[in-house]
Amino acid sequence: MYSQKVMEHFRNPHNMGEIEGADGVGTVGNPVCGDMMTIYIKVKENRLEDIKFKTFGCGAAIATSSMITELAKGKTLEEAIKITRKDVAEALEGLPPVKMHCSNLAADALRAAIEDYHEKKKGEKK
Ligand code: FES
Repeated sequence: MYSQKVMEHFRNPHNMGEIEGADGVGTVGNPVCGDMMTIYIKVKENRLEDIKFKTFGCGAAIATSSMITELAKGKTLEEAIKITRKDVAEALEGLPPVKMHCSNLAADALRAAIEDYHEKKKGEKK
């Protein structure tokens, strides 16, 4: 039921873990199933220098988190915030329709982490 790519990222997730002293952290829960995901980002000169994730979720959630960290790493904040769940699903060569909601988590958590970064920045300036 899963593509080769999904299985690859599920079995061997990339960028799993936490970033100490992250510049931005985003946590979102999936209302459909109650699973949770946190994304940590390190920003340097407006680019995502590092990104890691922690997911308490299904295999598809793990695979999408892994894939979104790959897609986002090295991108500018403006580019990263535009990554959609569709981009993630496409990069994974498709997700089964019942699992599409799982890919919301990754895109939403990344966006939340970037927003958190902007909020923190604003706070610093005051
Ligand atoms: Fe919860 Fe997939 S079933 S994220």
